[in-house]
Amino acid sequence: MQMTDALNQIAPEGTRLGEFWDVLPEESGATPEGVLAIGGVDVAKLAETYGTPLHIVDEVGLRRQIRRFIDGLRERWPNSEVLFASKSLPIVGMYRLAQEEGLSVDIAGGGELKLALAGGVDPARLHFHGNAKTDAELQMALEAGIGTIIVDNEDEIARLERLISRPQKVLLRVIPGVDAETHASQATGGSDSKFGLPMDQAARAIERMRAHPLIDFEGVHLHIGSQILNTRQFAQAVENISSVGTFATYDVGGGLGVKYTYEEDAPSVEAYLDSIVESARAHLPAESKIMIEPGRSIVARAGVTLYRVVSVKRTGKVFVAIDGGLADQMDIALTDQRYEAIIADRLHEPWTESVQLVGRQCESGDLLVDGAAVPEPHVGDLVVMPVTGAYAYTMSNNYNGALKPAIVFVADGEARLVARRETYDDLLAVHAPAMY
Ligand SMILES: Cc1ncc(COP(=O)(O)O)c(C=O)c1O
Repeated sequence: MQMTDALNQIAPEGTRLGEFWDVLPEESGATPEGVLAIGGVDVAKLAETYGTPLHIVDEVGLRRQIRRFIDGLRERWPNSEVLFASKSLPIVGMYRLAQEEGLSVDIAGGGELKLALAGGVDPARLHFHGNAKTDAELQMALEAGIGTIIVDNEDEIARLERLISRPQKVLLRVIPGVDAETHASQATGGSDSKFGLPMDQAARAIERMRAHPLIDFEGVHLHIGSQILNTRQFAQAVENISSVGTFATYDVGGGLGVKYTYEEDAPSVEAYLDSIVESARAHLPAESKIMIEPGRSIVARAGVTLYRVVSVKRTGKVFVAIDGGLADQMDIALTDQRYEAIIADRLHEPWTESVQLVGRQCESGDLLVDGAAVPEPHVGDLVVMPVTGAYAYTMSNNYNGALKPAIVFVADGEARLVARRETYDDLLAVHAPAMY
């Protein structure tokens, strides 16, 4: 491919290049004019219609990925359930799609509960997470008829004992003692994690819950972290948790990592499921139910963010500044995640430069891609940041008065707006009128 050849010319020596298309949504292609098309829709047309920055989600690829998880787990372990970790993309359109595809849904707070219900998710298929659920949130969840509460700590048990008035299914989150090989901010399975109880405190909590007539204790939950590329760590967590006891249900969390850059490799869904299920066969009761909670690995690749170049500055480096930034790609600051950038309306041109893709926020850390391989950049170019379907929109914020971008789902040559762009009126709406 011409683009890969061009990239080879400037790639650091020894870098192994993956396929260009592997970081783009599955349903991607190029128009004869060399414009990126996703879901059969030319991104230049999307920019014209919806403006930039814009999140674009390949609905067909997304649904296919969901089926890989649901069918793949069911084939290996029939008594199983796949939950979408909705924190990765908590928008009504995504909740609706998850419901349509037969996913259950995990939520972490009152806001996600409201959004999930608005998306038509059956409350019985909701699983409520969080290490600091308030009385008000638990009350909301109980009133909604939530399926399962994943209890984090003894204070939460005390709250439930006070609040529940009819039988309620619960799981207990335990710390499995696996230090996940990922960024420290994304590791949640080690002994100093703030989430869940250490395994040696689980028995007492379980006994307390079992003693309550309305608490229906089903089993245990674990989650070792996010963006994990070593599948052996998932297997280890399953093995470790088996020592807590024999239960009806084991929820072994999410965390499968994805490929963000050309050089990176990530395990397939199948390899991930093999690793969990092989360990479950060896260590868990054969009749138990296994649940998993993928978030990133469901939505990340299906989504890209589309920007327009505002300025090109050549100092010692080449700074390509776009009309968005860190405010809509926060996980770069939180996790140092590396991304690629593609000039999306001149795909056929060779990549001759290595540039700094920067945003418009007032931070030098607002560096989205350090050394993006691109053709000669111009003001007005369209830039796509691939693999931004997870944890981008949900963490976007109003820093420097930034407006949350719009989101469109694209499929079979059609686009539909699922979340509109924030407006300046939205920004002003939360302030008391007397203040302005
Ligand atoms: C409890 C729990 N489950 C699942 C997930 C989803 O993780 P990922 O998006 O890495 O699959 C998270 C993410 O933080 C989580 O905290």
